[in-house]
Amino acid sequence: MPASRYRLSTCFEPPLCYSTRVSHSFRLGVLGSGKGSNFAAIADAIAAAKIPAETAIVLSDVETAGILSQARERRIPAQFVPPGKFRTKLDEDAERAFVGALQSARVDLIVLAGFMRVLKGEFLRAFEGRILNIHPSLLPSFPGLEAWKQALDHGVKVTGCTVHFVDAGVDSGAIVAQQTVPVHDDDTPETLHQRIHTAEHELYPKCVAAIARGEISMAGRRVIWKK
Ligand code: GRF
Repeated sequence: MPASRYRLSTCFEPPLCYSTRVSHSFRLGVLGSGKGSNFAAIADAIAAAKIPAETAIVLSDVETAGILSQARERRIPAQFVPPGKFRTKLDEDAERAFVGALQSARVDLIVLAGFMRVLKGEFLRAFEGRILNIHPSLLPSFPGLEAWKQALDHGVKVTGCTVHFVDAGVDSGAIVAQQTVPVHDDDTPETLHQRIHTAEHELYPKCVAAIARGEISMAGRRVIWKK
């Protein structure tokens, strides 16, 4: 993977970042397809002034997704964008609609919070190095769907969650941070998933805050925390 794929926007990099942020706040665009508990954790951390950012827009490919109601309850602009004819990715028109909405909202960082479609082509090019995701395993183990179930079936004793930048692969981008979660002998997929979710709600806001503060930089595909 070329190192340039992981180049962060200058907006993340002090001192440019600091001078840029004098005049505008760090703007998040959040994408999700589900209930939106990770989005809620981030929005609550913003409200508690733990993340120096604002959520500019929340978009979903599912009209009834909880993440849209979570946003509306918080008076954050929220929009359903029809995903088009495919099941696991956006079609060209949908991709254009998502990119257009995010560009109009002038987002600095895109936060995927349970967005169930693979992003490709124009979307990745428009926001290269500025798309963050959370995955419910310790990557590179168990990429893809139902990672908690994969971990349980495999018999690992420790799993967790990973915040990573998004590249053209599936859950393969540069890792920002990970948090471990023990697997108990009597775990079911549901109990393990719940424990991982709790860890996600701690880890994701910390990572978004660090990026908004310009506290991380890139060395190849390694993400370096400045303190
Ligand atoms: C989380 O488990 C996250 O790891 C995965 O999708 C789930 C989203 O849950 N990418 P929620 O909608 O944030 O509750």
